[in-house]
Amino acid sequence: MTDRYCVFGHPVAHSKSPLIHAAFAEQTGEAIAYTAIEAPLDDFAGAWRRFSAEGGRGANVTVPFKEEAFRLCDTLSERARRAGAVNTLILGGNGLTYGDTTDGVGLVRDLVGHGVALRGARVLVLGAGGAVRGVLEPLLAEAPASLFLANRTAGKAAGLAADFHDLGEVEGGGFDAVAGPFDLVINGTSASLAGDLPPLPDDLFAPGATAYDMMYGAEPTVFLRWAAARGARPLDGLGMLVEQAAESFFQWRGKRPATAPVRERLRQAL
Ligand code: ATR
Repeated sequence: MTDRYCVFGHPVAHSKSPLIHAAFAEQTGEAIAYTAIEAPLDDFAGAWRRFSAEGGRGANVTVPFKEEAFRLCDTLSERARRAGAVNTLILGGNGLTYGDTTDGVGLVRDLVGHGVALRGARVLVLGAGGAVRGVLEPLLAEAPASLFLANRTAGKAAGLAADFHDLGEVEGGGFDAVAGPFDLVINGTSASLAGDLPPLPDDLFAPGATAYDMMYGAEPTVFLRWAAARGARPLDGLGMLVEQAAESFFQWRGKRPATAPVRERLRQAL
């Protein structure tokens, strides 16, 4: 029987995950069926229970269910525990649900794949919401020289940094506390959605710096345009999307698909 997987979201019709996993399955010869399921806002746990009772082996979880997915898991990876969120569910043979989050490792793999050195780098992360919390453990595991979290609400960045102090050189504050230069600046705010740009100094980037936006689209985000005009190399989050999917696929099937061709195919369709 074909093993079933899905992505849960609300809304979920726009999700690229079914396309990505179909491409991975074709490439690796794995016989899986992967669909998008719109779970009810008030009963995510029920949706997962039903799916797994009907032969579902695992799932991806997207907005707005990542925290609820975290709460229903019987066991968690360390990075999911740190993130307080889960984007990958796996049904164990014992009927227990294991949760992981692959967003951070997806970000790191995309950066490394584009030749961005993280070890010893001076890193600035913009934002202190769920998206940023979700990537901090894998980022810090790469041993950057320093990581500053800057957020509109300064206290949130300081609090988030404190939660990760044991893992490395991480501090947090408001945008007014940003002091460059940085080798890597990652935008993890949702400001791009509103076409906004966080207030940032002009001398933010070290020579050869990279600007990464966790968002992506047919056109570069406001942040990436601003950064490119100041000499940084712009990278958007499409690669992170494909890499996080590849890591989920690996967790489920034990095979690592090639990501670059899938990313390029998606890029052309944006
Ligand atoms: P997500 O799951 O995408 O991280 P979130 O938890 O709501 O969503 O966090 C959104 C992040 O984007 C926050 O860091 C938010 O800043 P505040 O904590 O001050 O609210 C940031 N953000 C959203 N809109 C912004 C804007 N127009 N300018 C700057 N930061 C913005």
